[in-house]
Amino acid sequence: MATSTAPAVETAHDTFPINGTDYIELWVGNAKQSQLFYRAVLGFQLIAYRGPETGVRDRASYVLEQGKIRLVLTTPMGPEGEVADHVRLHGDGVRDMAFWVDDARDAYAKAIERGAVSVQEPTVLSDAHGSVVIAGIRTYGDTIHSIVERSDYRGPFLPGFRAAENPFHAEPAGLKYVDHCVGNVELGKMNHWVEFYSRVLGFYNLLSFDDKTISTEYSALMSKVMSNGNGRIKFPHIAVATDDIVKTVRVLKARGLEFLSIPKSYYETVLDRVGTIDEDIAPLAELGILVDRDDEGYLLQIFTKPVQDRPTLFFEIIQRKGAKSFGAGNFKALFESLEREQELRGNL
Ligand code: FE2
Repeated sequence: MATSTAPAVETAHDTFPINGTDYIELWVGNAKQSQLFYRAVLGFQLIAYRGPETGVRDRASYVLEQGKIRLVLTTPMGPEGEVADHVRLHGDGVRDMAFWVDDARDAYAKAIERGAVSVQEPTVLSDAHGSVVIAGIRTYGDTIHSIVERSDYRGPFLPGFRAAENPFHAEPAGLKYVDHCVGNVELGKMNHWVEFYSRVLGFYNLLSFDDKTISTEYSALMSKVMSNGNGRIKFPHIAVATDDIVKTVRVLKARGLEFLSIPKSYYETVLDRVGTIDEDIAPLAELGILVDRDDEGYLLQIFTKPVQDRPTLFFEIIQRKGAKSFGAGNFKALFESLEREQELRGNL
């Protein structure tokens, strides 16, 4: 598969400071059941809810948390409207990768000034717990970036959400933070969106998709398409970080989560490719955990099978041991595995 690199930029010029990902909102066909999967299998806690019971008629939303990761699962209450349209078109998928900022009005103004398309002007939302300022800009596809300022808010999530009332708490699986997200941009629009993130948000390097790409705990997101030669494998995923990938994957497998399988032959040569690592190779091979190295260290990663029947989203679990790249050395093994899965589904 081909990789290419974003135009080199000399220095970072953040258009506005981003503290991190505030939340990732998924629009899904059945949030009530999905949220239970995220809790019982992935180890998230349910923290807040909004829906018909709180006065919102057209949708229901569940807010889940683990470490610094906050997911919102939203489902339509009927066949009409933007949520239902999105689910029909895209299946369960990411609608909003929200940025957490200190000054949403300033961030929004600067993004618009640089050419971002507005979805929501800065709006103050308040309830008994305080107020937030929230704005939104459009990005690729039907995806948006909300811009959230919450320094004056003490509630469970956002105004209008009530704290969750549910005694079920699964043990966390050790997921700490969102490492990166991968989305599919429109065909032929890769450079357009690379340029968008560079010009509008001041991102750089985050958008290149070779192994020199950087990402840190504080990176809000990166965007890339990975595709095999015939373009039929696309690859939208959310990568979440753990400090102990072997332990995390054991927990998730014990709870029934399915991962892409990696041929044993991968492990016969992996150490020749990546050199010495701290971990024993046997548990990595047993679990199908992949290894890659860059100039600054190595990383361990594994990919779940799609978490819906319509294969629209899956998760990557990643543990960084110094490496700042994304595992380009594993693409071949990965795509072969994806192809085997697609063959089984009859859509290779
Ligand atoms: Fe990734």
